[in-house]
Amino acid sequence: MIFLKTDEEVELLRESNRLLAMTLAEVAKVIAPGVTTKQLDSLAYEYIKDNGGEPSCLGYEGYPATLCISVNEQVVHGIPSDKVVLKEGDIVSVDSCVKLNGFHSDSAYTFPVGEVSPEVMTLLKTTKECLYLGIEQAVAGKRVGDISYAIEHHAAQVGFSVTHDFVGHGIGREMHEDPEIPNFGRRGNGVVLKDGMVIAIEPMVLMGRRNTIIENDGWTARTADRKPAAHYELSVCVRRGKADILSTFDYIKEVLGEKFI
Ligand code: MF3
Ligand code: CO
Repeated sequence: MIFLKTDEEVELLRESNRLLAMTLAEVAKVIAPGVTTKQLDSLAYEYIKDNGGEPSCLGYEGYPATLCISVNEQVVHGIPSDKVVLKEGDIVSVDSCVKLNGFHSDSAYTFPVGEVSPEVMTLLKTTKECLYLGIEQAVAGKRVGDISYAIEHHAAQVGFSVTHDFVGHGIGREMHEDPEIPNFGRRGNGVVLKDGMVIAIEPMVLMGRRNTIIENDGWTARTADRKPAAHYELSVCVRRGKADILSTFDYIKEVLGEKFI
């Protein structure tokens, strides 16, 4: 069942997304070699709580943390740990959901830790481009497959793959609503996009092959070939002519300055 949102609901969703965007920027401030992923998780939990929100991931189907933090070959749903210490040259994907005003927001950003290789920078840049190319297609009258195709096609052109194992999704009073938004697909296929649909678009782009495996913790997905993966995600409202982007990377941009890509 797809729930179209009223203008009032869209404004509540925007508020929720703003708190999440600010939370990711707080995390961005402390990402550096020597920091543990558990430290990032603790500060995000405090920040969300201090600002009246709820961390939606915590307790979701038993998930034990506020953030999903996936390092290098980890694709998504990495569990923060005091044993995972970030080091120069890593990439770290931070994905989270917040509940505020009864509405969930969902956003992810992959950060380089210090200097990373040019190939990895290309992976980050390409994944972010995939996200914005997907968002360009999120207009009323187009179909989900138009978003999916835009994402997959751009990644493939650069020689990268996209996961088939994890998808974007509708979002609102529930963290995961219909429709699914795959990162692969065919133009003109799938659900017709309507004004007021709110969806989380989340390309996960893999430098090597697209196969993933779940680690023994039952959550962490990593690439089977152990090549790196990147993940950028924003929640958007489908409108006529142009999507309304409800989340933002602007707060992260302020923190990263000229390092923002
Ligand atoms: N953005 C992630 C997703 O849509 C958040 C999941 S929360 C978790 O899958 F609890 F499932 F990790
Ligand atoms: Co999501």
